[in-house]
Amino acid sequence: MMEMKKQSVHGEWSSRFAFILAATGSAVGLGNIWKFPYITGENGGGAFVLVYLMCVLVIGIPIMIAESMLGRHTRQSPIGAMQQLTKEANADVHWHYLGWMGVIAGLLILSYYSVIAGWATAYVFKAFFGSFSGGDARDIKELFDTFTGSPLTLMFWHTLFMGATMWIVAQGIKDGLERAVRFLMPGLFVLLVVLVGYAMTTGAYAQGLHFLFKPDFSKITGNAVLIAMGHAFFTLSLGMGAIMVYGAYLPKNVSIAQTSILIAAADSIVALLAGLAIFPIVFANHLEPSSGPGLIFQTLPIAFGNMTGGWLIGILFFVMLVFAALTSAISVIEPAVAWLVETDRFDRKTACIWSGLTVWLLGLGTVFSFNVWADIKVFDKTFFQLLDYLTANLMLPIGGFCIAIFSGWIMLQKHSEAELAFSNPLYYRLWQNLVRYVAPVGIFLVFLHVVGVL
Ligand code: PHE
Repeated sequence: MMEMKKQSVHGEWSSRFAFILAATGSAVGLGNIWKFPYITGENGGGAFVLVYLMCVLVIGIPIMIAESMLGRHTRQSPIGAMQQLTKEANADVHWHYLGWMGVIAGLLILSYYSVIAGWATAYVFKAFFGSFSGGDARDIKELFDTFTGSPLTLMFWHTLFMGATMWIVAQGIKDGLERAVRFLMPGLFVLLVVLVGYAMTTGAYAQGLHFLFKPDFSKITGNAVLIAMGHAFFTLSLGMGAIMVYGAYLPKNVSIAQTSILIAAADSIVALLAGLAIFPIVFANHLEPSSGPGLIFQTLPIAFGNMTGGWLIGILFFVMLVFAALTSAISVIEPAVAWLVETDRFDRKTACIWSGLTVWLLGLGTVFSFNVWADIKVFDKTFFQLLDYLTANLMLPIGGFCIAIFSGWIMLQKHSEAELAFSNPLYYRLWQNLVRYVAPVGIFLVFLHVVGVL
């Protein structure tokens, strides 16, 4: 029985392409368009990009293959998956915690993700009503500060975004997730290309290119490497079960390795395109590339407010940012929803309501960290910064480390071999060595370096 590939109780993607769209939708999100440019800016540009791409290649892709494989083999939520896998391999029951950690990381991530996605939603309307029109850097910053300074306003947009996310997830795999990504993903890509086209006309394109691709290794500290690695996990949606649960809905004849490489490549291309759209605008307007999380909310609007056709481009840009965020948000919460359904105590809709409410409540912490709690800091970080650091830089790499160890050393080899079905046994060996040695050692070394042992 165990060997049979039954469909997951939650449903299945209708094709390989649907999975690619959904997983790319999960990967491409605020991480690419909002986070990648500002952390690249904060960490010195080109060298950071190089370290990040290295992490994607030797750690990200092998772990993405591993996660999809664990998901498709078990066809369950990460919690159910880890329970089944542990039993099959006769492994220590503590491995169950890996599933739990993923679900919890998902709830934490979505809580702040939704707040930032709420900003993007609000900015669609600001763009539409011409709020950026003619504004200089100071006006736009003031607009941003007034906006983030109001807890009620942020709460409103956070609520709206969470509502939309949970509404899509409640419709199920084919009618909810898949339908959404089929519509949202192509538009996002077209718009990014248009924006890069615009960036080429700003006169500072070469400066942007230079910033993104000219490595200056003096900027690379241990912490910068950790941030690059954490971002590789975050942007590929790895280490918390999102790709695992999407893998659980994958038809059995699809090549996991091929699709994973495709998805990782698409994700990195979008991140680089986003950088190529944003940095030239930053430099052309004499702004700081290292201005932090506000970067795209404080720099791009200046261009939108002053360029010909900027009104329309501005609206479209923020619409697309919302789209990108939505296709990611639905994957962040899916592990929790799938697990609740598997307990047999909830139908999908009720599961969505409860998990959505939990995330919404947690999100208030992030809402307040931009205003009423702005001065409350632990380790010099606000609640939002702490959550971001805890999830992206710690929980996801630790989750990824455990996934690599589990799939390389613990899971029965006959299962991973059958699931990956490589045409050439050498490829299997290569993957196995990457998840057995390269990825875990890499993650471990980065951690050692950060705690100061290396
Ligand atoms: N990959 C998404 C992004 O780059 C965020 C995400 C993280 C999605 C973790 C799912 C899981 O925005």
